[in-house]
Amino acid sequence: MTDGGSSIPAVQALLRALAAGRDVAELGTAFGEGAAAMAETARSVVTVEVDPARAAIARGRLARFSNVELVEGDWRSLRGAFALVFADADVHDWDRVLTLVAPGGLLVKDDLTPGRAIAGDPAREFLLRDPRLAAAEILTTPETAAIVAVRR
Ligand SMILES: C[S@@+](CC[C@H](N)C(=O)[O-])C[C@H]1O[C@@H](n2cnc3c(N)ncnc32)[C@H](O)[C@@H]1O
Repeated sequence: MTDGGSSIPAVQALLRALAAGRDVAELGTAFGEGAAAMAETARSVVTVEVDPARAAIARGRLARFSNVELVEGDWRSLRGAFALVFADADVHDWDRVLTLVAPGGLLVKDDLTPGRAIAGDPAREFLLRDPRLAAAEILTTPETAAIVAVRR
């Protein structure tokens, strides 16, 4: 499934900071803008995009980074334990995402509308209420929010 555009500059700044020195996985590359921001500071970035046309554009954008691996396919085929996971694809199976986060690692979700109730919002219910995580919802702009969670 293809949807969504590139992350906004405020989210890219957040990701650049959180990625520093870490091994990162990004679920949903789109055009490679978020991956490029993280690649500036991360030890390594594995980024997965299901749409071949988007992956081709991202491959060009990311070619200058020796620490980036772009995988064309479904993020659900990804294996490993990462110190930062940016879950930016169309995620429904949060338990599966959590298997990719190393203990003590970070899990980030953006594109949230601030002020929405937790109940009835699957991403917020998982990220803010699952006892395996400690999380905070933060404003990225006055109109947008993200959740940063740590796997305990
Ligand atoms: C919001 S965009 C990603 C933006 C990007 N992370 C950034 O920071 O610029 C979401 C992307 O996830 C991709 N996607 C959706 N389902 C996917 C899946 N199951 N596996 C991999 N990519 C997927 C879509 O094709 C789309 O390009």
